[in-house]
Amino acid sequence: MPSFADPFSGNVNKKMTNEELAQALRLDIAGELEAISQYEAHILATDDPLAKAVLSEIRDEEKAHMGELITLMRHLDPKEKEHFESGAEEVEEMIEKLERAKKAPKKAK
Ligand SMILES: [Fe+2]
Repeated sequence: MPSFADPFSGNVNKKMTNEELAQALRLDIAGELEAISQYEAHILATDDPLAKAVLSEIRDEEKAHMGELITLMRHLDPKEKEHFESGAEEVEEMIEKLERAKKAPKKAK
């Protein structure tokens, strides 16, 4: 739900360090994820083709915003970048393992 009833709710009264900004970006990323989820729910809940098209385009813009924020966070916090890359490597290893298992000849029972 929007929280802009208080026009000062998002104000930060000081300049932030990069670590503090990275922490703030996590909240911004959560907001993008929430928006994506809501648009997706609305897309699934309508059969109107124009509504589906418009909402899908907006949803995809939110995904681009999420990518921008994650990239910015990785720039501001090098440790975060290491964790992202470690997680990505783990998933890539799982994908390779599954692909190898798919290609391996099936054992007779
Ligand atoms: Fe956005």
